[in-house]
Amino acid sequence: MISDEALIALAGEARERAHAPYSKFEVGAALLTADGRVFSGCNIENSTYSLTVCAERVAIFKAVSEGAREIVKIAVVVDTENLTPPCGCCRQMIWEFAADETTVILANLSGDVSKCEIRELLPKAFDSSFLVGVG
Ligand code: THU
Repeated sequence: MISDEALIALAGEARERAHAPYSKFEVGAALLTADGRVFSGCNIENSTYSLTVCAERVAIFKAVSEGAREIVKIAVVVDTENLTPPCGCCRQMIWEFAADETTVILANLSGDVSKCEIRELLPKAFDSSFLVGVG
């Protein structure tokens, strides 16, 4: 299994490809899926602003579109002192494809790292279990 450090390094490389001319807030993400593959992503902004997609979701879209369905861990890298947790949208997307335990690793370019579980970031999450029995 890829180490947390290696996953952080890949997220850092993805961050260098961020398209963030409006916010200047460049983010990279890299995730490991249960089948052992790694996918990365960067935030991609747009002049209409609202079309912006976060780095985490870009990585998730790449994974799912390649047939990977279960995220074991995901690293998010920024260049700020404060480590950036995934936004609400991205938490929900991670939850959709979470494994039994999905670790979210936050890191910056200074080497600070913090880890937590997606269930801690998204308590009382909505998911497909609530759709059962409808209709
Ligand atoms: N952003 C991410 O890519 N991931 C996050 O977890 C938080 C925010 C991006 C979206 C936008 O391009 C910029 O950061 C500022 O919000």
